[in-house]
Amino acid sequence: MRVVAVAGAKGGVGKTAAAVNLAMVASAAGYRTLLWDLDPQGAATHCYRARARVKGGATRLLGGKRGLDSYIRSTDHVRLDLLPADPSFRVVDTVLSSRRWPDRVIRKLLRPLDRSYDVVILDCAPGLGIVTESVVAASDLVLVPVVPAPLSVRSLEQLQAFIDEHRPGLPLLAFLSMLDDRKVLHRQVVGQLQGDPRVALSAVPVSSAVERMGLEQVPAVLASPLNLAAVAYRRLWAEVEDRLDLDAPSGSVIDLTGPAAPSDGSARPEAPLLSVDQPPVA
Ligand SMILES: Nc1ncnc2c1ncn2[C@@H]1O[C@H](COP(=O)(O)OP(=O)(O)OP(=O)(O)O)[C@@H](O)[C@H]1O
Ligand SMILES: [Mg+2]
Repeated sequence: MRVVAVAGAKGGVGKTAAAVNLAMVASAAGYRTLLWDLDPQGAATHCYRARARVKGGATRLLGGKRGLDSYIRSTDHVRLDLLPADPSFRVVDTVLSSRRWPDRVIRKLLRPLDRSYDVVILDCAPGLGIVTESVVAASDLVLVPVVPAPLSVRSLEQLQAFIDEHRPGLPLLAFLSMLDDRKVLHRQVVGQLQGDPRVALSAVPVSSAVERMGLEQVPAVLASPLNLAAVAYRRLWAEVEDRLDLDAPSGSVIDLTGPAAPSDGSARPEAPLLSVDQPPVA
C-alpha cells in the first residue's frame, strides 16, 4: 500500500481537485484505492456524493479504538472507497496534540489497511500544522499543486522545508495547477520551475470541467475525459506511478477515455506539458 498526500500551506490551489481526480484515475487503472478526506470543508467527500460526517468525529476516529475500516464507505465506483470528512477536523491539531506521539497517529491507523488497498490518497486541509506532521510521517509521496504565482512558489519552498525538518528524504512532487498559458506571469513561473526535478511535467490547465465538479459531483476525469485537465490528471497519475515505482495491477482496467478518438473525427486534445509547450518568457 502506498500513501500519497495532497498537501501544502496554501489554500484554494487545487489539492482537492487533484485528490478527487487522481483517486478516480488510480481506481480505474486497477488499484484498490482509498480517498481519505482530512479537510473539515469536506469538498472531496461532496464530490463523491457522500455526507461529510464521521460518527464520534475526529476524537473517536483518531482515537484508534475502532479500526478505520469501520468508517470507510464505498463509492459509486469500482475499487474506490472513501473515508469521509467531518466538521470536527477543524480541531484536529488539538486532538492530535493531546496524544503522546501525534506524528505517528495517521501511520498507525493506516497500517491495518495494508492488505485492503494498493493506494491511499490523503486530501489535506491547507496549512502546515501537527496534522501535516502526522500526514508526512505516513506518506510515501507528497503531491503539491502550485498555482503559477510568485507566492505559490514560495509556499512550495515552505513545504519542502517542512518535509526536510519532519521527514527528510520524503519525495515531493509539485505540479502546476490552474495554468493559463495566455498569462505572461504564468509563463514566467513555468520558466522558473522548468528543470526542477521536483516538478511534474504534467500541468493542470485552468478548466471549467474542474470547476463543475462541485456542482455535478462527478470527477472531471469521468465527466469530461477528453478535457485538457482530465488528460493532465491522467498524465500526472502516470508520473506518480513512476515516482512510487508502482506496477499497474493486472485485472480489469476501466478506460476512462472511451473510444480511441472523439466521434466527430477531431484529434485528441493535448494537455500542456511543462517542458514542451511552455517556453520560458524572457
Ligand atoms: N484546474 C482548475 N481549473 C479551474 N478551476 C479549478 C481548477 N482546480 C481547482 N479549481 C477550482 O478552484 C477552487 C479551489 O480548488 P480546490 O478546492 O481543489 O483547492 P484546494 O487546494 O483543495 O482548496 P483548500 O485549500 O480550500 O482545500 C475550486 O472552486 C475548484 O473548483
Ligand atoms: Mg481542498
